[in-house]
Amino acid sequence: MPQHGTQANEIDTSRPHPARIYDYLLGGKDNYLVDQEAGDALIAAAPEVRPSVRANRDFLHRAVRYVVGSGVHQILDIGTGLPTSPNVHEIADQVSSGSRVAYVDNDPIVKVHADALLGHSGQTEVVLADLRKPRSILDHPGVRAVIDFEQPVALLLVAVLHFITDEEEPRGILAELHDALPAGSFLVLSHATDDFAERSEAQAVYNNASATMNLRSRSNIEEFFAGFELVEPGLVQVPLWRPEGQPHQTSDIGFYGGVARKAPVPGSSDW
Ligand SMILES: C[S@@+](CC[C@H](N)C(=O)[O-])C[C@H]1O[C@@H](n2cnc3c(N)ncnc32)[C@H](O)[C@@H]1O
Repeated sequence: MPQHGTQANEIDTSRPHPARIYDYLLGGKDNYLVDQEAGDALIAAAPEVRPSVRANRDFLHRAVRYVVGSGVHQILDIGTGLPTSPNVHEIADQVSSGSRVAYVDNDPIVKVHADALLGHSGQTEVVLADLRKPRSILDHPGVRAVIDFEQPVALLLVAVLHFITDEEEPRGILAELHDALPAGSFLVLSHATDDFAERSEAQAVYNNASATMNLRSRSNIEEFFAGFELVEPGLVQVPLWRPEGQPHQTSDIGFYGGVARKAPVPGSSDW
């Protein structure tokens, strides 16, 4: 696979990484043998994993079109993953040109590839930072270069929170991010679940990976939207979120997704 030079020595190829496993499941080429083996073990344990990640990615497309179509043109995409065409700024541009996107991930390989492919156009920035330290993201000069926190922001946490353990206090992380966003901002969130099938074997594939998989129930995932108001149809299996065209078979899709908006402070004239 291409290394794109300078930061390649930071890349750990001794164990699978979530970004590269996901890339393999989506049919990408930016992954190593350890990631392919982990991906194959996942498929063996949960054959619907490939349609599930595809459905998650399709949800991301629809949700980005929705938030940009609602007039929000700044996107903070945390846990962005390896570049996958179309990337978030390209999806946003399909609706309205001129959106700005801060791509954030804690995996150096994502930054290497995203720097090489997405560049720094003034419209996009790629930042290496960790969701477990939200302040380091909110204060990062790269994020601040493209995101004005005085204006509504679409915060994307798509298929990333399940890499945060309960001990790492995901609700506290969400609260800190919520407080940094002005009224009118959106939260786009998806999360893996074992509500529809027992998934301990699939979950175990991540025990040897660089981050563990923390499957959660719908009610636990809904708590992450505290302080936001879910837009219709609420938190649902990802193919059911504002589907376009033929409705998908959903019974085995193990991702919930939802989009929510931060309401204005009572009495303010925001949006
Ligand atoms: C499954 S991919 C999702 C990619 C994309 N958001 C999507 O849904 O198509 C999860 C990404 O989250 C990143 N990630 C995992 N833990 C993270 C953390 N603590 N901080 C930032 N990124 C993280 C991984 O490196 C990976 O690129």
